[in-house]
Amino acid sequence: MNPLIDPFGRAITYLRVSVTDRCDLRCIYCMSERMRFVPRNELLSLEELDRLCAAFVARGVRRLRFTGGEPLVRRGFLDLLNSVKRHLGAALDEITVTTNGVQLAEFARPLFEAGVRRVNVSVDSLDRETFKHISRRDRLPQVLDGIDAAERAGLKIKINTVALRHDNAHELPEMVKWAHSRGFDITLIETMPLGEIDEDRTNQFLSLARVREDMASYWRMTDLPDRTGGPARYVRVEDTGGRLGFITPLTHNFCEACSRVRLTCTGKLYLCLGHETSVDLREPLRSNDGDAALQAAIDAAIRLRPKGHDFQIERLRAPATARHMSVTGG
Ligand code: 5AD
Ligand code: SF4
Repeated sequence: MNPLIDPFGRAITYLRVSVTDRCDLRCIYCMSERMRFVPRNELLSLEELDRLCAAFVARGVRRLRFTGGEPLVRRGFLDLLNSVKRHLGAALDEITVTTNGVQLAEFARPLFEAGVRRVNVSVDSLDRETFKHISRRDRLPQVLDGIDAAERAGLKIKINTVALRHDNAHELPEMVKWAHSRGFDITLIETMPLGEIDEDRTNQFLSLARVREDMASYWRMTDLPDRTGGPARYVRVEDTGGRLGFITPLTHNFCEACSRVRLTCTGKLYLCLGHETSVDLREPLRSNDGDAALQAAIDAAIRLRPKGHDFQIERLRAPATARHMSVTGG
């Protein structure tokens, strides 16, 4: 079958699959405390998610990342992975998972057994009170246990930290040192204007250009050419020996080399994190013609792929998109 190439010549080789929009945390930059979730009867079944993954793998997708919400709260998630695993080696290079770590202590080994070798764990603070404030749940000890379990299970760990001006700005160097002392890469992320939350995002926005400048005043940092097909720019911190990534959607455009599209748990395909453009794949998936309608819908979707996003700090007050990151996956 034809590979997926968008109108700007970018090959689509990476699919992020959000298996649920639900989460066992309520991070202040991500959700409102009283978040309304998708009704369960609108979710794609595990079988449908499996068929969709297979359809994309048949078109040249070589990496699958499962996200949410929090993927580990979706019942049957491991069954899905254990099925998708059949593509590994031949058509598929890797299966990765992005998790908040809350349930990782229980899931680390089964994830490894399902073919996962790398996980991204979101940790926004190592201080229990701060963690509790940011995530609105007192779960730091579970997350740290989860990280230990993942390490024991043989999973390679990357830490994701959203940089927040009021809550964790002062703690970022400590977090980098901690991650590197454990042998983990760490990526800092600027808050993106996705979905309504309970506060004004402009108050929390912290420019990573500034954070980086600060760090450069006490650490030696060397730019690395490493691009993971994604938005992060990496440096080597010579003082710790570790890799540090920066995701700066607002101060830096990262769309030129973007190879990824995103599937929601209700079967909508989003072509870009910063655009509302999406195509429903659930209906063609449920039509009774094998995969013909589904493949045609995927082709039609890829033709709609925009050149890039257009987040702007002045517009942070009003979300660029109505949907939350927990719907399309981080
Ligand atoms: N802006 C930036 N990052 C976000 N995440 C969730 N919502 C947002 C947002 N609005 C992050 C999570 C996690 C990653 C998957 O996405 O904290 O680290
Ligand atoms: Fe859950 Fe991640 Fe959103 Fe936090 S940022 S509420 S962990 S989906």
